[in-house]
Amino acid sequence: MLTLEDVGVRYGRTRALDGVSLTVSAAEFVCLIGANGAGKTTTLKAISGLVRAAAGRIVFDGREIQRLAPQEILRRGIAHCPEGRRVFPYMTVDENLQMGAYVRTDAADVARDRERVFAHFPILAERRRQPAGTLSGGEQAMLAVGRALINDPKIILIDEPSAGLAPSVVEDLLDVLLQVRSLGLTMLLVEQNIRFGLRLADSACLLQKGRIVYSGPTTDLDQDRLATYLGVGRLLSDDLSAGLGRQPAQQRSGKPRSR
Ligand SMILES: Nc1ncnc2c1ncn2[C@@H]1O[C@H](COP(=O)(O)OP(=O)(O)OP(=O)(O)O)[C@@H](O)[C@H]1O
Ligand SMILES: [Mg+2]
Repeated sequence: MLTLEDVGVRYGRTRALDGVSLTVSAAEFVCLIGANGAGKTTTLKAISGLVRAAAGRIVFDGREIQRLAPQEILRRGIAHCPEGRRVFPYMTVDENLQMGAYVRTDAADVARDRERVFAHFPILAERRRQPAGTLSGGEQAMLAVGRALINDPKIILIDEPSAGLAPSVVEDLLDVLLQVRSLGLTMLLVEQNIRFGLRLADSACLLQKGRIVYSGPTTDLDQDRLATYLGVGRLLSDDLSAGLGRQPAQQRSGKPRSR
């Protein structure tokens, strides 16, 4: 569904991505993992058109998109939940969702999709007239996902959804994202919380200094391999090893898988 071929991105003299190639198949959840500054956010921004790829191709649904404007890329079905969630704090939940749908012209369609978002996130329906800045961190995370979903996208790019959330809230968010997966959506997820990412994803791509050093099924990743790629020695916690070598969530739940 989505393929990056040899994508390079520069910020002035900084080479943020260097020959990045990766593939996300329809209905697949892929987790992009890497240390701070590895280029994870830049990868998502290159896909959604927020930064220009200086080299390479990005192909979505059979068409090159790397020269399109962000709103056109969104229109074609790629929605991006940015790092830090970036909800509009002084706007209500309703208004935030409305802003998320800025590229859409049919008000009836937007209203229908907004009700669908509320069906997924009943807490947002309860808070729909509340300024987004007064929502809890977990509720803001849901709003950020809802603001992407209101576009009825084919794929969502999510940048560190669990950052800054308490463990119990991270569990709630995991449930929400598993729900999203049951809609048949495709996801490219960036996570520093490797355990969280691996519980959701079918496959992982490891980025190191702007290059992909591993991509494959999450079940093939073990602690040593991750430690080597991420350059963190043996410091990974036991908590993390609990998430490794596990079957991805969809497989565990007994649903058929296409792969
Ligand atoms: N607007 C910018 N101008 C200049 N350099 C930038 C810019 N944005 C990112 N960079 C640099 O590009 C590299 C990759 O940044 P990026 O934000 O993609 O990393 P990341 O993997 O998302 O890191 P983190 O885990 O901290 O979010 C870093 O060295 C960063 O300093
Ligand atoms: Mg980042």
